[in-house]
Amino acid sequence: MERALVDRLADDLSAADFTVDGLTDLWGADADAALHRGHRVPALRAARRSPSARATLARLFVLGVPVEPAGLSAALPRLGHEGAVQLGLVNGSGVPLLDLRPYAVVDAAGVVHWWIVSDLGELALGHAIPEDHVLGVGGASSTLSGLLVPSPVDSALDLGTGCGIQALHLARHARRVVATDISRRALELARFNAALNGVDSIEFRLGSLFDPVEGERFDRIASNPPFVITPRVQDVPAYEYRDGGMEGDALVETVILGLREHLTDGGMAQLLGNWEYGERDGLDRVAAWVDSAGLDAWVVERERQSVEAYAETWIRDGGTRPGPEFDRLSERWLDDFARRGVTDVGFGYLTLRRPPAEPTVRRIERYDAPLGGALGEHIASVFAAHDWLNANDLPAARLTLAPDVTEERHYWPGADDPTVMLLRQGTGFARSVPMGTALAAVVGACDGELPIGVIAAAVADLLDVDADAVLAEVLPTIAELVVTGFLRP
Ligand SMILES: C[S@@+](CC[C@H](N)C(=O)[O-])C[C@H]1O[C@@H](n2cnc3c(N)ncnc32)[C@H](O)[C@@H]1O
Repeated sequence: MERALVDRLADDLSAADFTVDGLTDLWGADADAALHRGHRVPALRAARRSPSARATLARLFVLGVPVEPAGLSAALPRLGHEGAVQLGLVNGSGVPLLDLRPYAVVDAAGVVHWWIVSDLGELALGHAIPEDHVLGVGGASSTLSGLLVPSPVDSALDLGTGCGIQALHLARHARRVVATDISRRALELARFNAALNGVDSIEFRLGSLFDPVEGERFDRIASNPPFVITPRVQDVPAYEYRDGGMEGDALVETVILGLREHLTDGGMAQLLGNWEYGERDGLDRVAAWVDSAGLDAWVVERERQSVEAYAETWIRDGGTRPGPEFDRLSERWLDDFARRGVTDVGFGYLTLRRPPAEPTVRRIERYDAPLGGALGEHIASVFAAHDWLNANDLPAARLTLAPDVTEERHYWPGADDPTVMLLRQGTGFARSVPMGTALAAVVGACDGELPIGVIAAAVADLLDVDADAVLAEVLPTIAELVVTGFLRP
């Protein structure tokens, strides 16, 4: 990779307005949506109609269609077709060799506009992807990057960096980042992406799991590890980008168990994973892993699939459509699950923290409501609220309602009293919490003036019930409302 050529490419992409918005302007929101569903024709038709450099680049790098060398030189005037060949983006006839597309997101530090190079997908190749495929930015990548805690730190590790997307995000908050992968090719593309986006604080290292960082500790670790459960038999493809080569969900357990000795005190790790359900509940198994790891933990299970649905998802992901090969692979997957008595697979994310002494945070939950946007600050505030609760006496605390909290009441027609009262959160996990009369009255009085114990006693007086009973009733939910960000000390 020659830096001068990469800089010329970046200049050309900027000049062509090769951005996420630029592409939506080119082909419209409907074609964009079709593309996300794996249907490129609407975008292709719009791109063919436009003579712009942006349309040429989109046809070539996003839609995977060859472009005449002269046309490419016109679209990349500084780099030229020859330069693109030298960078390995196209061959001598203008056939694309890599996918290159704009990426945009808003995180806690502001708007990000990057370009990301990865291997060509199924759509451009016209066939199933090879086992050493280097993945671009997908749904799971965005889920993880949206969770990353954004406070400034000295060092961060991206384990299994792929095209380098998490490392780029980590570099926005960490002074230095180490990005590792077992794939030499992934590291080459990730290094290319860092250079293309002008980020020079990432060090790339080859090796499996924690081998490349033996003896080192980091303030942050992010990993979208190759957690996909795959039958360990000869005739099932093992895609490097998603399969860590271990049986069942052992890869996720191994990553979790390795975290403690690579985190600084107070250091946080964030990762995605799958876990199996069989005789034992999947989340109980995850709880046992984090217990053995000796880490504070917040685990959120976002989805649970039957093994049949899981097998289908990942056979399709490899580019195999229903037919004889699909059936053969499905037999392998379902044999593997049946052999180990697995019925379902959970998916979710974990934020783990190395505590200075014994772990104090153990939050394990199922939450499948839609979530979006940058959640990192919220995640940090949940850990901070746990710490606050552990250090303070809740009945003596003066709490205020967070500004994004509203109350919702539902009435039977004509009734004076509500049948349902809910507290709703506008940010974070956008949770809603049902409330009884006593809790609603206590929460309604949380304006920071009086301690919770005093408010509960006054509410008990109004309702003509025992003060200790009211406090005992509301305290666990008040604690939960503090942790989840409805109430603030
Ligand atoms: C699901 S991809 C994640 C890529 C990227 N970090 C993201 O978030 O999109 C998993 C990555 O882990 C890498 N990988 C597979 N086995 C590994 C291992 N044993 N040690 C380190 N990385 C591994 C794969 O090559 C792949 O790049």
